[in-house]
Amino acid sequence: MTTAAPDKAPDRISGMFDAIAPRYDLLNRVLSAGIDRRWRARAIRSLQLTGRETLLDVCTGTADVALQAVSAARVIGVDFAGAMLSIGWRKTIAAGQAGRVTLLRGDATRLPVTDNSVDAATVAFGIRNVQRPEIACAEMARALRTGGRLAILEFGVPRIWGVSTLYLWYFKHLLPAVGRMVSGHSAAYSYLPASVGAFPPPAEFMAILERAGFSEVRADPLTFGIVYLYTGVRR
Ligand SMILES: C[S@@+](CC[C@H](N)C(=O)[O-])C[C@H]1O[C@@H](n2cnc3c(N)ncnc32)[C@H](O)[C@@H]1O
Repeated sequence: MTTAAPDKAPDRISGMFDAIAPRYDLLNRVLSAGIDRRWRARAIRSLQLTGRETLLDVCTGTADVALQAVSAARVIGVDFAGAMLSIGWRKTIAAGQAGRVTLLRGDATRLPVTDNSVDAATVAFGIRNVQRPEIACAEMARALRTGGRLAILEFGVPRIWGVSTLYLWYFKHLLPAVGRMVSGHSAAYSYLPASVGAFPPPAEFMAILERAGFSEVRADPLTFGIVYLYTGVRR
């Protein structure tokens, strides 16, 4: 999938997520047929949490990772889109988890946490939106204690013939059309395939993670490579 690099100016991206926030969760469930919860669960499992750790969830959005992880860790979620965070906070209160989850407004490239202050970090479907992903990765390395685990979920492009043809048709045509119809926002769901097409391939993103300060870096394809789970350990 080759696409021109989309405009990732922070104001544009946060404005786009603020606009689709009310329909974001519904669209996620529908467009991924519910598999998104399993992808997040797999990422959380890879962190090997015991319940005593602090997890930093970057690009937390409506707090789905935070709420799925909350029985295994105290969670700090960071996002720059206020409307996404408001929904996340409502969900946190409804789940009775206000004591275990903190949501902060902030940018992934200037995380509002101190050095070596968290045991684990996650980003689910957020890193491809960040204008300078290498800076966000270095920021997570700064926030993590030595030995702390990182898990990043991001869309990929399936390599299996047949699967990839079908998926690209779904991703480039059906998904933007359904997204437009349900969210009423025309740019956001065209931006999704464009941003995935412009994201570095797995080997290149693994190199970014290594340069940012992670070892044992892996990229595991999930669901035929529709999604990749990137993991690493803070050196
Ligand atoms: C596709 S949503 C994913 C939300 C959530 N992690 C999930 O799994 O549903 C991407 C989120 O990343 C946030 N985001 C993108 N770039 C960001 C940045 N530079 N700093 C903070 N948040 C950012 C957006 O506001 C949006 O809420």
